[in-house]
Amino acid sequence: MILILIGAPGSGKGTQAKYLKERYKITHLSTGDMLRENVGNATKLGKKANEYMQRGELVPDKLIIDMIAKRTLKEDCKNGFLLDGFPRSLPQAKALDEMLGKKELELDAVINLIVPEEELVRRLLGRGRADDNEETIRNRLKVFNEQTSPVLDYYRKQNNVKEINGTGAIPKIREQIIKSLA
Ligand code: AP5
Repeated sequence: MILILIGAPGSGKGTQAKYLKERYKITHLSTGDMLRENVGNATKLGKKANEYMQRGELVPDKLIIDMIAKRTLKEDCKNGFLLDGFPRSLPQAKALDEMLGKKELELDAVINLIVPEEELVRRLLGRGRADDNEETIRNRLKVFNEQTSPVLDYYRKQNNVKEINGTGAIPKIREQIIKSLA
């Protein structure tokens, strides 16, 4: 099974991914977590990515596409994977199509977590990650609206998007997602 979790910053992608990876026995691939690991280990990629992440901007497509292409070749992706935070731009979505096409794999669904903006800001300010300050959060939301919304439209044209209300109790949201995939 190959799934994509899309949603604005703070919409609960990481929170829901923890359950979904167990439920469907697939590997959780979070580009945000992968980048933060690279930043933590001060790798070449991490050093390049950090400045974009601090500003709440997207890390250049080529770096992200290469990172995901390499990661999906690993053994633990053989049973499928759950993409969290990727693709986030049209070039990334097209690169993913190409990657899957070459392996004769198909995307099963795109799960869109919908949460009002003020709730997103409240959640992120309450969390306190390095990029969870008000200025960076506002920019991450702007980047989502400008660069990631077209990705949703791209998948909507393929009738592949499950629209999920991402507010309320976490287990209830999970049930909605599972129901939409049944
Ligand atoms: P990334 O790590 O992907 O961050 P994000 O999209 O901004 O999303 P978050 O991790 O902040 O939120 P989430 O939706 O996972 O919510 P969570 O479950 O944590 O990306 C960070 C940066 O990396 C980007 O800005 C960019 O620079 C770079 N990057 C990453 N991918 C990239 C790509 N593909 N291309 C280019 N650049 C890329 O929940 C948030 C909070 O809300 C938590 O405290 C949680 O406990 C709480 N919460 C969750 N669900 C609920 C609920 N139902 N009710 C109340 N609280 C809830």
